[in-house]
Amino acid sequence: MTAIITIANQKGGVGKTTTAINLSAAIAHRGKRTLLIDLDPQANSTIAFFESGEISASMFDVLSETRTPMANIIKPTKDPNLFVGPGRLALAKLEQVLAGQFDAPYRLKDALAPVVKDFDYIVLDTPPSLGILTVNALVSSTHLVVPIQAAYFAIEGTDDLLETYERIRARPNPGLKVLGVVITLFDKRTNISRDTHGQIRTVFGEVLFKTKISKNVRLEESPAYKETILTFAPKSPGAVEYKKLAAEVIQRVEESRVARHAEDAA
Ligand SMILES: Nc1ncnc2c1ncn2[C@@H]1O[C@H](COP(=O)(O)OP(=O)(O)O)[C@@H](O)[C@H]1O
Ligand SMILES: [Mg+2]
Repeated sequence: MTAIITIANQKGGVGKTTTAINLSAAIAHRGKRTLLIDLDPQANSTIAFFESGEISASMFDVLSETRTPMANIIKPTKDPNLFVGPGRLALAKLEQVLAGQFDAPYRLKDALAPVVKDFDYIVLDTPPSLGILTVNALVSSTHLVVPIQAAYFAIEGTDDLLETYERIRARPNPGLKVLGVVITLFDKRTNISRDTHGQIRTVFGEVLFKTKISKNVRLEESPAYKETILTFAPKSPGAVEYKKLAAEVIQRVEESRVARHAEDAA
């Protein structure tokens, strides 16, 4: 069974895209066939791999009325295990395009169905909102990962995300699970980071991944070179931490499968 993981937090600048890119690369590095889907109109996950001239069709074409098959837009990367479903600024129009369409929240799930079996992991990068694109991601997913920046007021707003999550679990996607919360942009030298780490641990407890992603300039630089941290700076803290996070993610996904089998058997 393919693990489909939404990376979401309606705040911008908390490390969603950086996590989507480098977690996908680190999962692929462990030999899993991985598809990174960019649902953010800003398309930062896409630009981290391709020049804009290299993108013809995007997730917009898949989700809008043209219903371009997903298989037609998936692009290979330099890593043979890593593929990208590109995003584009046009995605910003989707809210209007889909308004009033009864199947609006299910477009992505339907589009993914024919390609899901081709991948072990699918990672969805989402925009900083809880609009139709993030809802499509959550309806399609098996798991949710929430990056939280180690900064004051970091937890504010996660209520809204968790409420959306519960609503999606209640009806369209009861199988959805929170895989974990990951602290990003952590700076161990600052009191802010230490304080917020404690606060986040109190609120989220066991859900928090053991791995924290430190603030590291190499993570900021790598997209400009069209590389993930694994090839751009393989020994940097960012590469080491995203590899550790990938190991934790894979372990939790496998544990959740065992738990699900046990539930099914009971
Ligand atoms: N661990 C990190 N260390 C340093 N810079 C980071 C780190 N994570 C993200 N950034 C930078 O912070 C900015 C916001 O990160 P991004 O992943 O785009 O967040 P989001 O997708 O949530 O808006 C980007 O410029 C990114 O390069
Ligand atoms: Mg982003």
